[in-house]
Amino acid sequence: MKILVTGGTGYIGSHTVVELQQEGFEVVVVDALFNSRREVIDNIAKITGQKPEFEQFDLTDQAKTADFFQRHQDLVGVIHFAAHKAVNDSVQHPIKYYRNNLDSLMNLLDNMETFGVPNIVFSSSCTVYGQADQLPVSESAPIKKAESPYGNTKQIAEEIIADTVHVTPLHAIALRYFNPIGAHESGLIGELPNGVPDNLLPYITQTAYGIREQLKVFGNDYNTPDGTPIRDYIHVVDLAKAHVAAVKRMVGNQMKKPFEVFNLGTGNGYSVLEVIKAFEKATGLKVNYKIVGRREGDIEQIWADPTFSNEELGWKAVRNLDEMVASAWHWEQHYRNTL
Ligand code: UD1
Repeated sequence: MKILVTGGTGYIGSHTVVELQQEGFEVVVVDALFNSRREVIDNIAKITGQKPEFEQFDLTDQAKTADFFQRHQDLVGVIHFAAHKAVNDSVQHPIKYYRNNLDSLMNLLDNMETFGVPNIVFSSSCTVYGQADQLPVSESAPIKKAESPYGNTKQIAEEIIADTVHVTPLHAIALRYFNPIGAHESGLIGELPNGVPDNLLPYITQTAYGIREQLKVFGNDYNTPDGTPIRDYIHVVDLAKAHVAAVKRMVGNQMKKPFEVFNLGTGNGYSVLEVIKAFEKATGLKVNYKIVGRREGDIEQIWADPTFSNEELGWKAVRNLDEMVASAWHWEQHYRNTL
C-alpha cells in the first residue's frame, strides 16, 4: 500500500516515513526542501534499509501537483505535513503562511478527488484550543480565536477538510499535536531548525552544544507551580506511530465518521524548568539559562486528554520525558559530529 507523505523530509514527516516503512507501507515523499535537506532521504534509508521515492516540488504549484497525481494513481492515502510552522514568522508574513499552507492543502484535496485517492491525514495542532478553559483538553473543547496566522491556517485547514469531506467520498483524520520533541534512537534523523531555534528543545540542545550562549526562559510569573509555562511534550517517535495507526484505521475502514479528530499528547504536563532539569539529569550537563520576560502569544498551560486517541486509535505515547530529552541530545551530537 502506497502513501504520499508531503513534507516527508521534515522533522515529524521523516520520523513518520520510517514508521510507515517499518510497518510495510510503500512511501513516496514530496517536499520542496524549503526548511529541510535531501540527505534526510538517505538517512531514512540507513534506518529502514529502503529508500523512499522522492520528488522535490512545491505543492502550491497546481500543474506539478496534478502531474504528480496523474503519475501516482496507486496511492491509498496522503499524510500532509508540508507547511510553514514558525509562529513569529507567520505574524510578520501572513500571506506567505496562508498561501503556502492553504493552497497546498486545496491542491491536494482537488487532486485526491479527481484521481480517487480516498484518505488524508492532516497535521493539526493543539494551538487550535488556545488557552483551554478546562485541563486536560479533549477533542470536544472549543476552538479559540487563533493567536497567529500560523495557528489560523491550522483552523482554516480543518474547516476546508470538513467541508470537502461533506461533499466527496474523501475520508480525513486531523491529528492535533501537542509539543513534539526528541529524535529517532539512531541519531540519524531529528529536528533541524533553520537559524536560531524558536522552540524550546532545539534551543536547549544547541545551548548545551555551545552553539547558543544562553537559553532565555520566557517568564516565571505564570500561575503554575514553578511559574514557568506547562506543555504536553510528546516523543516524536510516539507521534509518528500515531500516524501509522491513523492510516491503518482509514484503510481498514474502521472510521466512525468521515472526518475524525484526535489529540496526540501524553496527558502529562511539564514546565519549562522541569524540561531543563530533565535534560541536565539525562546528560549530566548544565544548561546556561536566564529568566527573561514573557514571550508574546505564549499560553500559560496546556496538556492533552489522550483518552479518545488511546481508545479509538489503539495508540498510546509510551516514551517518557527522560527518553525525549536524551534522544534530542543524541541527535544534536550525532548531527554536529557529521558536519
Ligand atoms: C508553538 C506553537 C505551536 C507550534 C509549535 C511548533 C503557540 C501557542 N504554539 O508551541 O502551535 O505547533 O510552536 O512550532 O504558538 N520557551 C522558552 N525559551 C525558548 C523557547 C521556548 O522559555 O527559547 C518556552 C515557551 O515560553 C513555552 C515552552 O518553552 O512555554 C515551549 O515553547 P515552544 O517549544 O516554542 O512551543 P510552543 O510555543 O508551546
